[in-house]
Amino acid sequence: MQPESGSSLTHINWVLLIILGLLAGLHWSLGYDPQVRGQELFPNMVRAVSAEAFSASSVLAGGMTLQPPAMGTIARGRLPLHLAATPEDALRAGETLENPFSLDDPAALQRGQVIFARDCVLCHGPTGAGDGTVAQRGFPAPPSLLAPNARQMRDGQIFHVVTLGQGNMPSHATQIDSADRWRAVLWVRELQRVEPVADAVPASDPLPASDPLPASDPALAPDEPTIEPNKTTETVVASSDTEPGAAS
Ligand code: HEC
Repeated sequence: MQPESGSSLTHINWVLLIILGLLAGLHWSLGYDPQVRGQELFPNMVRAVSAEAFSASSVLAGGMTLQPPAMGTIARGRLPLHLAATPEDALRAGETLENPFSLDDPAALQRGQVIFARDCVLCHGPTGAGDGTVAQRGFPAPPSLLAPNARQMRDGQIFHVVTLGQGNMPSHATQIDSADRWRAVLWVRELQRVEPVADAVPASDPLPASDPLPASDPALAPDEPTIEPNKTTETVVASSDTEPGAAS
């Protein structure tokens, strides 16, 4: 028995040696050139036969594969608003636009509450009284949404304010989609329904776009160091104007 098992072992050794030799030969024949891409097993999805959307085209207009949409095309769910950020168009929005959601729709109301908490409370405060943390720290306080002025605004007008901004309030069109903006309007209506009427306070003067924010009131945050807005601006300007290593 001994010699037989010994000879089968030698067989295996020979086979292993041949495989090792083949692998070494294969490895040597492939070589290594960092300029050359390695083997691609299934390249069809990466290098498609059809034109890639963002690749250049030799046959289509403008040399582009992806063509602009035909004139007058409207993307789904993106009805254009033909309104400008003017007080006149805010009134026009109030007359022509209607909230697609109603206060009887609990799901819409709940979503409106979420949007309000996420995107409005920071300035307008949880009840819309104009006491959000951002306003407490120096941003010009918004007028109360519970005051007669906001109560008399029509839904479309509030939608206009949220969409295009007004005075010191920036546009929220890019961060809240149109349906959610309408739901936020719904929540403003709900707050106005349950909260008492607030005194009319005129809106703060508009901030000039280039000016730094006014200093926060130190009395509101006695334990925190006061940030000097001018200094902050200077540092920001200096660091963005000077390339690292540039002579100053
Ligand atoms: C960055 C702070 C800020 C955020 C965030 C903000 N607002 Fe305002 N909002 C203001 C300021 C400031 C005004 C006053 C604008 C002016 O000068 O007329 C205002 C005005 C308004 C008015 C008009 C009130 C009136 O009586 O004229 C409405 C309505 C309103 N905001 C709703 C909203 C809603 C709804 C959201 C959330 C989707 C929101 N705002 C988010 C700051 C903000």
